[in-house]
Amino acid sequence: MTERPEHESAPAQRPQTPARQRRAHTTARDLERYAGLFADRTKVMRSSAMRDMMEITARPEVISLAGGLPDTSTFPSDSFAAQMTRIAQESAAQALQYGPTEGFARTKECIREVMGAEGMNPDPDDIIVTTGGQQALDLITKTLVNPGDVVIAEGPTYPGVLPTLYAYEAQTLQVEVDEDGMRVDLLEELLDRLHAEGRRPKFIYTVPSFQNPAGVTLSDERRRRLVEIARERELLVVEDNPYGLLRYEGEPEDTLYKLDGGDFVIYLGTFSKILSPGIRLGWLCAPPPVMEKVVLGKQSSDLCTSTLSQYFVDEYFAEGRWMAYIESLRGVYRSRRDVMLDALERHFPTEATWSRPEGGLFLWATLPSYIDTTDLLARALRDNVAFVPGAGAFVDGRGQSSMRLNFSAANEDEIREGIRRIGRVIAEQVELYGALNRDAEPAPREESGPGGEVVPMRRRPGSR
Ligand SMILES: Cc1ncc(COP(=O)(O)O)c(C=O)c1O
Repeated sequence: MTERPEHESAPAQRPQTPARQRRAHTTARDLERYAGLFADRTKVMRSSAMRDMMEITARPEVISLAGGLPDTSTFPSDSFAAQMTRIAQESAAQALQYGPTEGFARTKECIREVMGAEGMNPDPDDIIVTTGGQQALDLITKTLVNPGDVVIAEGPTYPGVLPTLYAYEAQTLQVEVDEDGMRVDLLEELLDRLHAEGRRPKFIYTVPSFQNPAGVTLSDERRRRLVEIARERELLVVEDNPYGLLRYEGEPEDTLYKLDGGDFVIYLGTFSKILSPGIRLGWLCAPPPVMEKVVLGKQSSDLCTSTLSQYFVDEYFAEGRWMAYIESLRGVYRSRRDVMLDALERHFPTEATWSRPEGGLFLWATLPSYIDTTDLLARALRDNVAFVPGAGAFVDGRGQSSMRLNFSAANEDEIREGIRRIGRVIAEQVELYGALNRDAEPAPREESGPGGEVVPMRRRPGSR
């Protein structure tokens, strides 16, 4: 398995530092003393489903299909060493200095190259370099959302956006996703309903390509309609696209940003999945009035994104091999996806369905409705295997019979073994349910509502 950094090891193996001992002995009275100081917004802050699990899944004996980690062991270490040495020899003083809040012009040129590979041509002034795509999400929400404002997201949505929406006290409404991405017809119905109530959503958040967590891609037709809707109703769409270049088969669709030209679509990108999440470098493209506020928001947040990381990216792109690295990643992840799909066919019950992503890092599996994947995870962890329970991708606990499975971080043998173990735990549950209900009528499968409960996914042609 990929080696984990020391700071991510299991709590049991950690030395008991004085700070840890103090935390372990925090009393109710201690908590009360601080509680009076907390801002109201802390009451609605929530942790993300994936972050909560990182500590458990970092244990070396656990096969984690839970995280969204790219396989950074594939990055050539000699190339990394050469780039860092060059920076140290030629630009140490600048690389160790603060930089502009908007990011360096050279880094923006790298971003323009990446976006150019998907047919986009943003103005450098419309780009701000951020500390990962996650900060871009935080900044755009900070810029646009007052407490109680409506934000529309997909159902399921990226679990990591939910803590941001909670922190800014947005009211999140989710629109069901099927195998062609967000149900834009349901979105229109929802927008009509909101309009009748005199409410205007601040933005529509979507991950149109190889969605995290469902692995599905918004069809070309729906993309065009979504952009039309945004333009007709003058609504903002936030397009989050970390995975667009990680396509393993099929033809690329136009991005929403390309279709719209950047008036109503705000675009979020990141180097995390095509280079490294450790460098914490992402970006946001927005029209000038929005950008002005985003820059102010970033100044108060971190002054500027890591100068050293920007220098690293500049050096890396100057080598001219960034696309070749992405091609190598595509090969690795395509095989791992195929191994996972094959293992699912072998080990998951006939009642289960799952998506068949053409790219990205995840697929979404849905089990019989009597299985709760949060409970199932507790059982699976005893067998040292982890996944993200589907409820973490909804604001209201739906998705409880679904799970997100990652196929980029574990190697092929681990994926086979991990799915075999999860399949065994599911089989136990199916058997138990069968034994308890032998004489009873089978439980009816719940219909999915407009918020998107269980997402039945199309099976691979020729599969069961
Ligand atoms: C859809 C989506 N948005 C944003 C992020 C955040 O990525 P980062 O902050 O590493 O750029 C992720 C990470 O998995 C993601 O899947």
